[in-house]
Amino acid sequence: MPHTSSRFAIFLSPLLLLLTRTTLASILDRIATCSPGSTPHQCGSQVGLQMKTQINHYVNTNDSVSKLRDFIETDFGSTLLSQYLDLHTSTFPHYISEISGLSTSSNTPFNLLFAINIQSELLLHLDNDYELTGCSDYHVRNLWSHNEDGPPSSDTYMVKTDQYIAFTYPGQLSGWAWSLNRHGICQSINALTSYNGEIGIGVNFLARSLLDASSLDEAISLTKNINNGGGQHFNLGQFQNPSIYSIETSSLTPTSVLNISKKTHFFHANIYQHNDANPIKGDVISSIHRLSRATTHFTQSENPPTSVSDLLNIMSDQSDPFNYYIYRGNNNVDHDVTFTTTIFDLKNGMVSVWDERTVEGVEARVVYGVKNGEIVVLDNVDERNFTSDKGVGFEMLTLPIPNYVYLGMGGVMVVMCFLSKCKFTRKRNGEKGYELIT
Ligand SMILES: *[C@@H]1O[C@H](CO)[C@@H](O)[C@H](O)[C@H]1NC(C)=O
Ligand SMILES: *[C@@H]1O[C@H](CO)[C@@H](O)[C@H](O)[C@H]1NC(C)=O
Ligand SMILES: *[C@@H]1O[C@H](CO)[C@@H](O)[C@H](O)[C@H]1NC(C)=O
Repeated sequence: MPHTSSRFAIFLSPLLLLLTRTTLASILDRIATCSPGSTPHQCGSQVGLQMKTQINHYVNTNDSVSKLRDFIETDFGSTLLSQYLDLHTSTFPHYISEISGLSTSSNTPFNLLFAINIQSELLLHLDNDYELTGCSDYHVRNLWSHNEDGPPSSDTYMVKTDQYIAFTYPGQLSGWAWSLNRHGICQSINALTSYNGEIGIGVNFLARSLLDASSLDEAISLTKNINNGGGQHFNLGQFQNPSIYSIETSSLTPTSVLNISKKTHFFHANIYQHNDANPIKGDVISSIHRLSRATTHFTQSENPPTSVSDLLNIMSDQSDPFNYYIYRGNNNVDHDVTFTTTIFDLKNGMVSVWDERTVEGVEARVVYGVKNGEIVVLDNVDERNFTSDKGVGFEMLTLPIPNYVYLGMGGVMVVMCFLSKCKFTRKRNGEKGYELIT
């Protein structure tokens, strides 16, 4: 916008905001539901019918989709697609049938919709430098917050079945975002980039399969016993269950499962933090900035975050001087936006969702819980000052990035890691700031 019009922009922006909010209803208002007892095909077909407008808009306007459409017409692309289809049909026939239902009712060719569901993998075959971006999670023991990030879009929607409720990208299986299932299992994903040139199970399919798990152990074993075609990070927990997990999968290394329940603070973005997979691939620069800001929140604060409002404060952070924000805002350096902020309150069995950048006192737009094995909307909780259980000690961010130099935060944060792993930790003796352990 030209400089001279900025004064008008100030007057106009509340109006624009109002218009935007009324014309583009929130994702939380776009809910596709499946009737109880539907088969996978019926469920896919009900979702496709209810979200036909969004799916068609996405399919007809998105540049990656047109790339995929061209690609699967080529000899190489169509051979690859049928190899992926064979593998997924034999491993997850019910999800293939869900996609087939989606395809029929939304009037989208099945092959294209399947390609959209394995786009992370296909686009990497097409371009080895393709990067998967998005999503931050900050855990303080039994409370955890998740920012759902992605390229600006008004085509995303929620899917609610008798098994789960999930943030869903248009035309895709649910799972690769954030969700709650009827066993109180909470899941959120951070995109990671992992490519080994071979055919394996797509990240969407693995993430979808965890929604059907009835225990954490079952969910974990799904992440371990799979021939991964890509990689992703699962934040995984369950209402009233003391175990909370950080799980990194990759097509190059075995799945790494970390029980993070004892860690008082844990942050994850879009780089590998505890798996041996290469952390330098993917959404690296933005992740380093987000990790650094989260560390700063912990180390520079008199009162390290423990409550819902502390977490919201961190997840809405836009203070990075280089404009790589935790609450992403589609600016000159970072083209993603944050769609929703979700708080998983495991102790109280509540999943609260905000669909805008939160400031003090903004109530959640919706709170989900589970009653008698059914996912329900809970009355909004007025007093959002729940705090996490007291933790012992400090274990924060491990950043296994060799040979990486980052200078920033107005001189506050200087991170230099050469040839060895580096760790952020709180300075001892009550000093503020952080120190680097190499
Ligand atoms: C199309 O979608 C992909 C991922 O689904 C995204 O990376 C890309 O930015 C989108 N393009 C547009 C123009 O929205
Ligand atoms: C994970 O850690 C928590 C806290 O120490 C513990 O209660 C729980 O049993 C652990 N889970 C497993 C599976 O070891
Ligand atoms: C939240 O804080 C208010 C004011 O400090 C207090 O009155 C109230 O009891 C607190 N609620 C909970 C659930 O802790």
